[in-house]
Amino acid sequence: MPHSDDDLDTAADGASTAYAGPDARLSAAEDAHLRTLTAAEAEGDERAVEAALRPRTLDEVVGQVRVREQLGLVLEAARRRGRAPDHVLLSGPPGLGKTTLAMIIAAEMGSPLRLTSGPAITHAGDLAAILSGMVEGDVLFVDEIHRMSRPAEEMLYLAMEDFRVDVVIGKGPGATAIPLEIPPFTLVGATTRAGLLPGPLRDRFGFTAHLEFYEPDELELIVRRSADLLGVELAGGGAAEIASRSRGTPRIANRLLRRVRDYAQVRADGVVTQPVARTALDLYEVDSSGLDRLDRAVLDVLCRRFGGGPVGVSTLAVAVGEERETVEEVAEPFLVRSGLLARTPRGRVATPAAWEHLGLPVPAASAWGAWVGGQPGGAGEPGDAALFDDDPST
Ligand SMILES: Nc1ncnc2c1ncn2[C@@H]1O[C@H](COP(=O)(O)OP(=O)(O)OP(=O)(O)O)[C@@H](O)[C@H]1O
Ligand SMILES: [Mg+2]
Repeated sequence: MPHSDDDLDTAADGASTAYAGPDARLSAAEDAHLRTLTAAEAEGDERAVEAALRPRTLDEVVGQVRVREQLGLVLEAARRRGRAPDHVLLSGPPGLGKTTLAMIIAAEMGSPLRLTSGPAITHAGDLAAILSGMVEGDVLFVDEIHRMSRPAEEMLYLAMEDFRVDVVIGKGPGATAIPLEIPPFTLVGATTRAGLLPGPLRDRFGFTAHLEFYEPDELELIVRRSADLLGVELAGGGAAEIASRSRGTPRIANRLLRRVRDYAQVRADGVVTQPVARTALDLYEVDSSGLDRLDRAVLDVLCRRFGGGPVGVSTLAVAVGEERETVEEVAEPFLVRSGLLARTPRGRVATPAAWEHLGLPVPAASAWGAWVGGQPGGAGEPGDAALFDDDPST
């Protein structure tokens, strides 16, 4: 029987036996440390290091060739016309360079960047205050734009299209709307969940860039560049080893580089070679495919506890003791991309590769087999499942 998200018994069972990780002997502090090591989000001190490593111009950006070329054209054309460029939406998993690109857009246009985020705009008034302070050509960066409140979103439609907002003064029958002109500006929105943006908002962006995970050779370049900036000495395959375990994500590559450097300084002669990188990353529990503790926990629960699925994402999240969003935005995209997990209309399913990765025998009758068998056209490659990218979690 498939375990669905409204299967409360299952969820409750998951809550009481939250996944403790492969090594339950770790203290809470150690566990927290390991989580930040491989988390896709940046926090605290890391933001300062990130700022130092961020590419400052489009030319410095590694990879994302298509996005770079398209965005380059949008900006160049706007510069020639002497106008603010069209609004830009940047979407993609955490740590792939959305904030970096937003900063580059402003820098390339020689305009100041104003920063805010969806959750910070709780009232339409918050947005009106920001917009009314804008100067012609300003770039307004709204991070996590899918988390903006509905009234603010509606105000934003008007601002994006007509460069005008209606500020409502007073309440009830006496309320009046005062139209307020806004100088032409460029909105840059970033989201990890483009699917959550309402259509009218999405349609008002003149250019949408979807950032893809990076290839190992691109990540290797990023590791080399960062090592240069940080003064870390790399030798013989050290950069490639870090790149191959970085889950296609520059932020993780940079972070693993710093941890490997720590290891190299304390336990070796400071030079990051392949054996040094390998030993250090094994120590930090980042496996050879780049799976971290959360990824492995998700696979482990999916295979061992739910027999390979199908299981709803909320149930999975409860079972690994994480937020649904974390599982959905951080762990899943990489697992799907690696062909280890599939999103099917009935829930999440483990692929044969997932069982193999965990060192478990692939069950003869699995949900994966049933699902692939039932697809039009018969059996498919694990990658095909990634096409099933809507939210079939219920
Ligand atoms: N194309 C790239 N080339 C080199 N470094 C990059 C590239 N993209 C990202 N980085 C590095 O990765 C780090 C994270 O990038 P960034 O903060 O832009 O990600 P993000 O997509 O905004 O993530 P989030 O969704 O968590 O906000 C940056 O510090 C930057 O140094
Ligand atoms: Mg960001």
